Amino acid sequence: MKKILFVCLGNICRSPTAQGIFDKMIIDKGVAEKFSSDSCGTSEWHVGEPPDKRAIAFASKRGYDLTNYRGRQVDFGDFYEFDLILAMDESNYFDLIHMAPSEMKDKVKLILDYGDAREIFPNETEAMKTALRNLKSVPDPYHGGDEGFERVLDLLENAIEELITSSA
Ligand code: 4NP
Repeated sequence: MKKILFVCLGNICRSPTAQGIFDKMIIDKGVAEKFSSDSCGTSEWHVGEPPDKRAIAFASKRGYDLTNYRGRQVDFGDFYEFDLILAMDESNYFDLIHMAPSEMKDKVKLILDYGDAREIFPNETEAMKTALRNLKSVPDPYHGGDEGFERVLDLLENAIEELITSSA
């Protein structure tokens, strides 16, 4: 059983969305018994809270149920408990690498190390394709509009598809 932890800043938008996508995809692909998952935040701001209402609503439109997840902060024990710790953005990645015991730092990766963001926007301009090739972070949707939540779902579905195929 491979244990995977998704990490963002607040644990109410991106990482619960990643967990919701992952939990449904492993069932749909018939590989659920090979994995377990969780999500958390680098901050303590939303401990005990359900995901952001907008994150729940946009995920639900694509068939993902985030309603049972509750916010928690990353814990030192997580670096021992999980096999793979996936940061949503470069700032989360830095915080996790900084915090991880030296022998556990290799477990920490960026979620966008998986998948190719260019595949999901095939009709974009060359300039946008270059930007997407270099994209390392899932943009934080918290302070923005609805399109930010759709973009989070697009990027994460693409990355998690490859994460599961390459890990199953
Ligand atoms: P998340 O988004 O890291 O994707 O959960 C955020 C949620 C809350 C805040 C920032 C980002 N906040 O400032 O409270």
